Amino acid sequence: MKLLKSTLHIGLEKPVKLLHVTDSHISYVDDYDDERKHALAARLGSPEKEKYLYEHIAYAKANCDALVHTGDLFDFVSHANTVKARELLADEHFFFIAGNHEYSQYVGEAWEDKAYRMNSYMQIERDGGFGVPMLWNTKIVGGVNIVGIDNSYYLFEDWQLHRLKKEAEKGLPIILAFHDPIFEQSLYDYHYEHMPYESCTYLTGVDEEHLARYSEFRAYQQRPDAPTLRMIDYIKSEPMIKAILTGHVHFNYESNLTDTLPQFVTGGAYDGYARELTID
Ligand SMILES: [Fe+2]
Repeated sequence: MKLLKSTLHIGLEKPVKLLHVTDSHISYVDDYDDERKHALAARLGSPEKEKYLYEHIAYAKANCDALVHTGDLFDFVSHANTVKARELLADEHFFFIAGNHEYSQYVGEAWEDKAYRMNSYMQIERDGGFGVPMLWNTKIVGGVNIVGIDNSYYLFEDWQLHRLKKEAEKGLPIILAFHDPIFEQSLYDYHYEHMPYESCTYLTGVDEEHLARYSEFRAYQQRPDAPTLRMIDYIKSEPMIKAILTGHVHFNYESNLTDTLPQFVTGGAYDGYARELTID
């Protein structure tokens, strides 16, 4: 595994260590899954991705208070992936919030929106579910409140904002965990600097000025709506929110959304990356 180390100073009496892992992109299939899913698993799966996932879990168990996974644990919806999710997430040490691939049927073959997500969600439920909430998840670890929010289609929803405000009322420092990073100028610039061929930057909350560089399809896919902008305003203004853990773009990056709010983007776990965040 490729381990990054970061620190966050928020005045905790006793340090808390989180292992942030994101984008493992595991692909299991079994006899309940169709031929197309078997072909996808043969093409996209690899023993290396699984090896890294188990290394991350073992490292977190030995060294950290929790493993925080910000989605794309699996590459697509399959019976075998759902069974594996239940097995992995039964471990209280493993905190999870879904990414876009958790709902992907065949990886990029369809327009993905709320209806698409709900269809996949029901299929996952038919197969017994992940055993944990997928759209919203919270866990208190050593006096830190980890709040996971599904924003995997570049959108936040008002019910999530309502729940987040309720979490802030608990008075504990909050670490937010979600799949798609929030727009920040240097992150946007870094993306285009290193990947100038890309038609977008895969960030949440990109304004019209910055969407202008996107392809028409990507701008339509990633344009924020009013609830998303409300959520981002709240995240930037709520002092109990101390940091954001996120992924999706498959590279490592750290920057601040405000003077006091860092956003940690961690590279793909499929490639070995994980970030140990020490909070004190
Ligand atoms: Fe993703």
